[in-house]
Amino acid sequence: MAEREWRPPWLVEQFFRLAPWGFPRQILMILTEGDKTFPEILEGFERFMHHFGHFGREEVVAGFTEDTFTAAVEEAIEKLEREGAVIQRGEVYSLTPEGRRRAEKARRQYQEFGRLVEGLLHPQTVSLVGLGVHIVLAVLKLIAGTISGSIGLISDGMDTAMDGLSSVLVFVGLRLNKEQIVNVVLVLLMLGVGIGAGYEAVHRVFVPEEVEADLLTFAAAILSGLVCLLLSLYQRYVATRSGQQPLIAQAVDSRNHAIVAAGVITGLVATLLRFPLLDTLVGLAVAALILKSGVELAMEMVRALRGEEMDFSRYELGFVEEYRRFQERQLAEWLLHIIAEEGPLARPALLARCREVLDAQDVPILRELGWGKGAGLEKQVVGALETLVEQGLVTAGDVLQVTEKGRAELSLEVWGVEEVEFYAQAMEPRTRYVHAPLARRIVQSLPSLPENPLIVDVGTGPGFLCIELAKLLPGAAFIGVDPSPHAVETARQCATRAGLERFEARWGRAEQLPVNSDIVDLIVSRESLHEWADAQAGCAEICRVLKPGGYLALEDLNRACARWKRTLFVLLTGLGTDLEITRERLRAYEMAFTPEEVEELLEHSGFEIIKSETGLNLFVLAAKKENSL
Ligand SMILES: C[S@@+](CC[C@H](N)C(=O)[O-])C[C@H]1O[C@@H](n2cnc3c(N)ncnc32)[C@H](O)[C@@H]1O
Repeated sequence: MAEREWRPPWLVEQFFRLAPWGFPRQILMILTEGDKTFPEILEGFERFMHHFGHFGREEVVAGFTEDTFTAAVEEAIEKLEREGAVIQRGEVYSLTPEGRRRAEKARRQYQEFGRLVEGLLHPQTVSLVGLGVHIVLAVLKLIAGTISGSIGLISDGMDTAMDGLSSVLVFVGLRLNKEQIVNVVLVLLMLGVGIGAGYEAVHRVFVPEEVEADLLTFAAAILSGLVCLLLSLYQRYVATRSGQQPLIAQAVDSRNHAIVAAGVITGLVATLLRFPLLDTLVGLAVAALILKSGVELAMEMVRALRGEEMDFSRYELGFVEEYRRFQERQLAEWLLHIIAEEGPLARPALLARCREVLDAQDVPILRELGWGKGAGLEKQVVGALETLVEQGLVTAGDVLQVTEKGRAELSLEVWGVEEVEFYAQAMEPRTRYVHAPLARRIVQSLPSLPENPLIVDVGTGPGFLCIELAKLLPGAAFIGVDPSPHAVETARQCATRAGLERFEARWGRAEQLPVNSDIVDLIVSRESLHEWADAQAGCAEICRVLKPGGYLALEDLNRACARWKRTLFVLLTGLGTDLEITRERLRAYEMAFTPEEVEELLEHSGFEIIKSETGLNLFVLAAKKENSL
């Protein structure tokens, strides 16, 4: 199994890539807490990283390994020493008067920056920014419209000025705590705009209008579209963070404006191409979209007026949601490690440990920025613990302990979340070239099978082979077994999505199958054998659970395949994927068996080989001998 590489979301990765630039300042801030040894300085960095979901285990973060990171910090300290800001006495580093002066300056700058960010994320600031943007856009459009004599641009400018008014409304509403009234007005306005746009588009079907396709109108539409899109993202982010419904309405409105601008651009292009019908069609689609969002918001509004809580997570930006989930996952994984290392652990003791390690108030930069986790920390830890208990990785109750399943999750032999997610995503579009032909091959090779067979897939991963087999054997019931808790969860989801009802995903490994003896008609397994810790024990287990005369269809990488062929195959099929994954796939061949070795394993476990085919992969069909033990 490859070292687990942590892949932060793209945006966060870019942020981390800037990190070395800030190392000297960070060291100065760490030393404001008192003199520190080098390991203590590194610990200061680690505590800072916890806040971003990085808990410093086997990950490689933004190109840094543990060694290169340590070297970069060392280099930054040396630079500070040369500049006379830091001095080393024995093992300990301390600030000089010059260092203290620079640290104090940095502290003030962090505080200012923190206040700036806090201000920008305040709902009222968002409505003011919206107002400013709309005024600037309206003025630009009106000037451009007057110069070019474009009626369209002038009326668009007037529209934008009206949006400025809605920002004023939101600002006043938020100040006076009258969010609900403002929300009603905004939703009604949106419905009105949607109906108006729809009427105009329908009207144009019967009375076509000439669209003015001048350069200024074109440029205004592009500029306005881009600005509205950015504004919408900003409004949505703050709205979901602060839970302000009027801001959601404004964000949807800004997004609609971006779509309208895209519609205008399409209309202009259609005019240039002499295809005016497209403009009308786009107009209709845009009107339908505005109406749809208006109706959705109206329904949300009615629910809110009835006192129901609004689900803001629906509006969360994709990358923000992804990052939040990632942080939750990282925290849960870290907790699992702590409980495994220190457990059994009482809940209060774990919470105290988290406060001690994770509280951002103890990290100078975060404290100055005002980005402490503070009260939220306990909620997050409790949430992560609940997830661990739900997943069966940690025992429920007041004293926490890692279960056997949890230990499997911690083991590096088992696929983690990222590996399963990556594999499932990469494989799903390829199942018809990979799993579907294998399913056909298995069914065609089988001498016989009962009408409603029980089939077990060992190392099922996301369960794709079961899904494909079910298409050919509609009466079959399936059990997918995998030692990775995330694979089990993914297999469940994939089977539900595929409408596979008679499918059960069970956690377990080949060497100890969670299935009763002598009940299975067919065992299948694809590209898993080479990962089993004890292949002989796995084959014996398969033999145990099969009915006498039951079949095993096994496909795996073929180590006997010429190296140049596998390399070429892996390179060609891995185009566009990470180099490390390509290397990992090539290494997997080295761990695999030859067909002869597999035959020997099976014969030794009480199987009779029916078919053994070789190529890039090996395929063996075997039957459990009637008299096997
Ligand atoms: C390359 S994936 C193949 C997944 C699936 N069979 C497919 O074809 O899409 C290998 C799977 O084998 C599982 N695996 C690893 N060790 C195993 C073991 N000892 N017993 C059963 N499955 C194992 C992994 O968790 C992983 O899901």
